[in-house]
Amino acid sequence: MSEEVKKGLMGIVVDETTISQVMPEINSLTYRGYKVQDLCEKCSFEEVAYLVLNGELPKSKELKKFITEERKNRGLSKQILSDIKNMPKKAHPMDVVRTAVSLMGLEDKDTKNNSPKANMKKAMRIFAQTPTAVAAYFRARKGKKFIQPNKKLSYSENFFNMMFGKVPNKEIVKAFDVSMILYAEHSFNVSTFTARTITSSLSDIHGAITGAIASLKGPLHGGANEAVMYMFKQIKKPEKAEKWINNALDKKKVVMGFGHRVYRSGDSRVPTMKKYFLRVAELKKNTAYPKMYKILEKIMLQRKNIHPNVDYPCGPTYHLMGIDTDFFTPIFVMARITGWSAHIIEQHAANKLIRPLSKYKGSEHREVLSLNIR
Ligand code: COA
Repeated sequence: MSEEVKKGLMGIVVDETTISQVMPEINSLTYRGYKVQDLCEKCSFEEVAYLVLNGELPKSKELKKFITEERKNRGLSKQILSDIKNMPKKAHPMDVVRTAVSLMGLEDKDTKNNSPKANMKKAMRIFAQTPTAVAAYFRARKGKKFIQPNKKLSYSENFFNMMFGKVPNKEIVKAFDVSMILYAEHSFNVSTFTARTITSSLSDIHGAITGAIASLKGPLHGGANEAVMYMFKQIKKPEKAEKWINNALDKKKVVMGFGHRVYRSGDSRVPTMKKYFLRVAELKKNTAYPKMYKILEKIMLQRKNIHPNVDYPCGPTYHLMGIDTDFFTPIFVMARITGWSAHIIEQHAANKLIRPLSKYKGSEHREVLSLNIR
């Protein structure tokens, strides 16, 4: 057996999938065969969530049923709402949402049932309830009263309403919907692989998603959208951007929102998200962030030939929507629940325990000496 170590599983194909395809050679990404850019322009997030979970775009009746189910399941139990309210105000919202999904598993009547049908039902409940948990903590932390989900509103409209008590204009909602579509799925990234690894021991979907959330929190993965915003805040003004980035690169710092393990010549999701970011900035009459965005992007390309990833335009877009920076990654969670769930169901359908090998480089065999002569 080969003893070659493939650090970070780089370049290793570990399984097959029918959910999405990342094609770095042509900077493209498809969900179930559809180009993600087309899905962004022609579909709502609900349609794409259905596609990711079920494999096909919904027909009108199917979409209606899916939307009804999602709206019906948005409510959280009094117990979970009270738990969220009592969570430490200084906790990271990712830790709160991770705990909330874990709590949902304690209450779910199908927790022990891993059949595809039960998993789909549980996926729908986690999908529908997570935005409610995120918004509940967003308000609780500010000492504000919880706003109940509203069945008359779409997924994104309802999220804004639960966060701020109002729905912004259609273009802002569309930009948010697009970010959700772009965040929904991305093949075997670290959190999805975590979810599949947990599933491979025949564990349950709440546990797999809880583990995936912990994985997504890291700044090399989902946490990058927050880190981008902290960077923008640190730079403060576009006039300072060039000096800041040159200094960071001179010091060999990793610049958040740039680079990707798979895409080496540009992230397929960036042009679409950048377009919506620029429109949101225009609507909010913000000129500083687009200027800063372009300066950092240009210098990263010139000096390192490294392109932005989707977190780069998402960070400032969410900020301009009025969302607190540490809530950016929980929003990524809300979208990625669709992709994770599809992967969990796919893993169950053709399961093989995931158990790689390691190359041992510790001490030689040795004897345990008695305490007085060690
Ligand atoms: N800023 C500065 N340099 C970067 C960089 C970044 N964001 N991303 C990669 N590089 C450099 C590395 O330092 C390395 O340089 P070296 O060869 O001189 O040591 C080179 O580019 C190759 O990068 P590598 O670390 O091998 O790529 P990877 O596949 O292991 O890492 C990421 C991919 C995503 C982890 C990495 O690009 C990164 O940390 N990006 C910032 C975090 C981020 O935005 N994550 C979200 C991903 S969607």
